[in-house]
Amino acid sequence: MLLKNDKIMLRHFKSEDIEKHIDWVTVETEWKEWDAPWEWLSEADDIDYIERRKSLLDKPTNSRLMIETLAGELVGEVNSYYIDGDCEKLAVGIGIPPLSARRKGHAYAALTLFMEHLFKTRDVLYTQTWSGNMRMIALAEKIGFKEVRRLKDLREVNGEKYDGLTFAVTKAEFDEKRKLLMIKQQNIEIKKFTDVDFDAFAQMVAVCWVEDYKETLYENPPIRMCNRMIQSVKDGFTYLDLLHLDGNPIGFVMYQVDHPESDWCEKEGFGFIREMYIRKDQRKHGYGKILANHAENELKKLLVPHIYLTSDDAIEFWLSVGYVDTGEISKFNGGKILIKEV
Ligand SMILES: CC(C)(COP(=O)(O)OP(=O)(O)OC[C@H]1O[C@@H](n2cnc3c(N)ncnc32)[C@H](O)[C@@H]1OP(=O)(O)O)[C@@H](O)C(=O)NCCC(=O)NCCS
Repeated sequence: MLLKNDKIMLRHFKSEDIEKHIDWVTVETEWKEWDAPWEWLSEADDIDYIERRKSLLDKPTNSRLMIETLAGELVGEVNSYYIDGDCEKLAVGIGIPPLSARRKGHAYAALTLFMEHLFKTRDVLYTQTWSGNMRMIALAEKIGFKEVRRLKDLREVNGEKYDGLTFAVTKAEFDEKRKLLMIKQQNIEIKKFTDVDFDAFAQMVAVCWVEDYKETLYENPPIRMCNRMIQSVKDGFTYLDLLHLDGNPIGFVMYQVDHPESDWCEKEGFGFIREMYIRKDQRKHGYGKILANHAENELKKLLVPHIYLTSDDAIEFWLSVGYVDTGEISKFNGGKILIKEV
């Protein structure tokens, strides 16, 4: 088996790897102080380690794969095993023995690639470590693992007692965490609309109305319609914020607190997300969630008891971020009314 991403590949053990593994148990041995250090008692354990690796040549297994950088350097291993032999509880493990290969993102890249593969056939994965292994705990948390079991004083390392830890993560949590992390690494900003954004805003409105709402525009770009929307922002009835990716607007959200004097007041005093749009080529990256979350936080500051919106085509999205279909139909646009409690 071969798995690959933009940083590393995971592959079966080869005879050329033996030398490196001998090095890892005899010279480059720091990792043994952290990877189940209670298992490394004598030279016999080193020999056993090498023999078990050699046996992989006759019996290749997907439960132990070598981590190789794209430049061809062997830097470690990932493995999987059933906790206490329980087939329902598959745990993953990792080691990056060479100190020179550490803190380069190899462990994160390798473990997430391995887990992505294992998640094709399972909903939950586990990992185990001990309470003194802060690097492994941080790595597990970065991936989205949460502690599910702690066995007090299970391990003794250098005369000190440590707890045995088991972590679990569901596929949904794993995906969510990865998406958030990817977003964090990108250059995203949410900013209040200013006049310099007018053209970009009008362009997005035009595409949204034509492609998503299937409406006919009698003016394109819809300058007059956008001017009306902006006037409502300037009058203080609505808020309009744009999501910028690398300095370019790729989406917007319009929201308000329903007020009898605004041009839309279906639920007086409630927060209302009037419009939300993410450019088509930027969808399914989590930006919609970020923008919805932003509007909700802004509305919360205005002390609204509930936030509602109307939707027809994007109901699945709104349900996924916690809105509930009330069964009510909007008297303004005939859309379904969805509500979220603050
Ligand atoms: C744990 C280990 C696999 C991490 O490998 P690595 O390639 O250096 O890790 P990465 O560069 O991919 O870092 C991923 C995350 O791990 C955590 N981490 C890694 N090294 C860390 C350190 N020195 N201090 C704190 N956190 C650390 C961080 O969360 C890091 O994310 P960040 O860079 O965004 O902060 C490595 O230290 C190792 O092989 N240790 C010995 C073997 C071992 O303990 N295995 C686990 C047995 S249970």
